[in-house]
Amino acid sequence: MTESVFLKKKEVREAINFIRQVTDFRPRLALILGSGLGNFGDRINAISTVSSSEIPYYPVSSVQGHAGKLIFGYLQTDTFHSMPLLVFQGRVHFYEIGSIERVVFPIVFSHQLGIKKLIITNAAGGINSCFHAGDLMLIQDILNLAGIQLPTTPNDSVLPNQKYSNYFDTEMKHKVLQCASQIKIPLQQGTYCCLRGPSYETPAEIQMLKRIGVDAVGMSTVPEIFLARSLGMKTVGISLISNLAAGISSVKLSHADVTETGTKVTGRFSELIEQLVLSLN
Ligand code: HPA
Repeated sequence: MTESVFLKKKEVREAINFIRQVTDFRPRLALILGSGLGNFGDRINAISTVSSSEIPYYPVSSVQGHAGKLIFGYLQTDTFHSMPLLVFQGRVHFYEIGSIERVVFPIVFSHQLGIKKLIITNAAGGINSCFHAGDLMLIQDILNLAGIQLPTTPNDSVLPNQKYSNYFDTEMKHKVLQCASQIKIPLQQGTYCCLRGPSYETPAEIQMLKRIGVDAVGMSTVPEIFLARSLGMKTVGISLISNLAAGISSVKLSHADVTETGTKVTGRFSELIEQLVLSLN
């Protein structure tokens, strides 16, 4: 696993060379937008927009709600503009391509571009009984139940994967809490569990996850966070609770509902992310 992530560096270099021909913009903060959350990209003052299908070796998503665009630019207010950004509109999931190297390609790519900070977002099913569809959750910890060996950096090749006591940057988490309170957006907090998918869980699986302390479940994010952490990137994660998980509510789950909730609460989500991005430096 580590060796192949290492070997894929050649591919990443080709992808970076391609980007360098398109733009000399130097982003310092990356933002990954999950299912139904891509609209935030419209707020960016774009210097350059690239379709992921144009970039050599870049993984292309087949899932609706994942536009597959990379936006290089700034967030701008009348008086202020943010640090230079790279916004990923959409991501690929392990269940789509069966290759963890492809899933984490955007992270290696961001790291090679010199990006040191990362905001990861996703849509997730709510398990905690205090959660409602449309809530936002600051990810406090992660659980990998996807049955995937997670990638590490080449330097770790002779060691077992290192587990960190904290995958998230304390200061960035603090900023998320501060921004939510400033703009009066209620924010849940909890543990996000990644399963392999692609099918949603059974009610029995959700009961099991609830008993072991999971607050929200999805099919992404954990591999990206894992690698970003081992590459030394400062990371924070936010989930949109797009639905209550199977059996928690009697409503039948569908991907259409997941993206629809994303679109409905896009205002609140975007306000929080905008505030956060503007507060980071
Ligand atoms: N389960 C798994 N993944 C998800 C869910 C869910 O209920 N909602 C959004 N992504």
